[in-house]
Amino acid sequence: MARRVKIFDTTLRDGEQAPGCSMNLQEKLEVAKQLERLGVDVIEAGFAIASPGDFAAVKEVADMIKNCTVASLARALPKDIDAAYEAVKGAVNPRIHTFIATSDIHMQYKLRMSPDKVLEQAVDAVRYAKKYCHDIEFSAEDASRSNPEFLYRIFEAVIDAGATVINVPDTVGYTTPNEFFELITKIRNNVPNIDKVDISVHCHNDLGLAVANTLAAAQAGATQLECTINGLGERAGNAALEEIVMNLYTRRDIYQLEHAIDTTQIYRSSRLISSLTGVQVQPNKAIVGANAFAHESGIHQHGVLANKSTYEIMTPESIGLSTNRMVLGKHSGRHAFEDRLKSLGYQLSKEKLDEVFQSFKELADRKKVVSDRDIEALVAGGVGSFPEAYQLSRLVINSGNTITSTATVKLTKSDQQKEIEEVSTGDGPVDAAFKAIDRIVDLEFELVDYSLRSVTEGKDAQGEVLVKIRKADQHFTGRGLSTDIVEASVKAYLNAKNKMLYEFSLLSEVGE
Ligand code: KIV
Ligand code: ZN
Repeated sequence: MARRVKIFDTTLRDGEQAPGCSMNLQEKLEVAKQLERLGVDVIEAGFAIASPGDFAAVKEVADMIKNCTVASLARALPKDIDAAYEAVKGAVNPRIHTFIATSDIHMQYKLRMSPDKVLEQAVDAVRYAKKYCHDIEFSAEDASRSNPEFLYRIFEAVIDAGATVINVPDTVGYTTPNEFFELITKIRNNVPNIDKVDISVHCHNDLGLAVANTLAAAQAGATQLECTINGLGERAGNAALEEIVMNLYTRRDIYQLEHAIDTTQIYRSSRLISSLTGVQVQPNKAIVGANAFAHESGIHQHGVLANKSTYEIMTPESIGLSTNRMVLGKHSGRHAFEDRLKSLGYQLSKEKLDEVFQSFKELADRKKVVSDRDIEALVAGGVGSFPEAYQLSRLVINSGNTITSTATVKLTKSDQQKEIEEVSTGDGPVDAAFKAIDRIVDLEFELVDYSLRSVTEGKDAQGEVLVKIRKADQHFTGRGLSTDIVEASVKAYLNAKNKMLYEFSLLSEVGE
């Protein structure tokens, strides 16, 4: 029988930790729900001691998720472990994930500790964590640059202290597939009690080898693979979940490994992460890039039409990418819409369904044919919703190539049901509209990113705009969707500002 590997997702911890990828609490909960639907074995929900926001997110994920283990990261320190346990204790399957660096470089320059002291602190941390819960993961940070003899010693000791998983991170993305295969093999052969635990790997992508290294480790006997959706993560990111899983699936003849991932949830997970973080997926990215299943050249199109297997090694349907383009229109009723959502794999609450159906009706008024991609974009629009302080009531634009653009924007302030209108000129319609909004909602921040893409092809396609703003070290991503790109831009800008207002009001409630 094929061996089963566990998939450990750290999008909410290592992914979210990357600059500009932060998500608010509601968004993290939506991601966690999607990861549960995707079928990951472990969700690393955050680093509980890092901030009150991180703690709250880990706790709420732990209390909500039923079918995955929920882990929190903790340095090998009692106060970190206390916070981690406090946050995950409500989970059906809680895990504390503690780590300390084991490479000479890290021990000497970062920790300023001898190997013996590091080993002692690691063992103490695992013993301490074990008082709280059964499932303890121990990571030897920078393992791939550590002395293997020291790794054998520390792994043996933490397993004796009660670790259930030992993790071998390639923290700086330095190793190669052959070297990593050998390291895992040597750990298996030289740590006497290794059979009692899962061997995990955690690869970064600095040299573009994170997925290859992870797969090599799986072939060498690793039983848990750590990864993130879209390969999100610090610097060049982490190993991409979708690439690992689709390799295991497409080349099962080679790997002969089983996993519990529902691959048809991959596309949706990828879209969700990119719209919540504002980090777009490059078009030629494997598996989830916009071009991953596009066949442009005549020769390829001819081949695919004659027989898909000529150029397609996996189907778009296998990752949940619908190829159905003619779906619904303005005469489609709620039943048909609900049916379509169900067959796309969405289970929405009644409230959310009402909201999305309303947006669908508005879209169907503007667009002849509403495709599955449009519907997916509409659903993603309602994700992680929070009370918006300002709403767009009216937008009038006067623009052209020979005149100065002018925008009139009217917003409703939700708590007072008051309408406020402002007019501004600007360098183009988007700039004019943003300036008019700034006159109404006057906040200090820096605009760090603006991007526009079309959801589908065609002149009447919906434009999806992502706007990222920053205040101090906090980023807020706003998303706007419309067949009119200026309106989409205004919605995205307002959404980002509303998020900022909301987060700051929460922080002032917790006294930050
Ligand atoms: O990259 C790394 O070493 C980590 C550990 C904390 C597991 O993220
Ligand atoms: Zn990492």
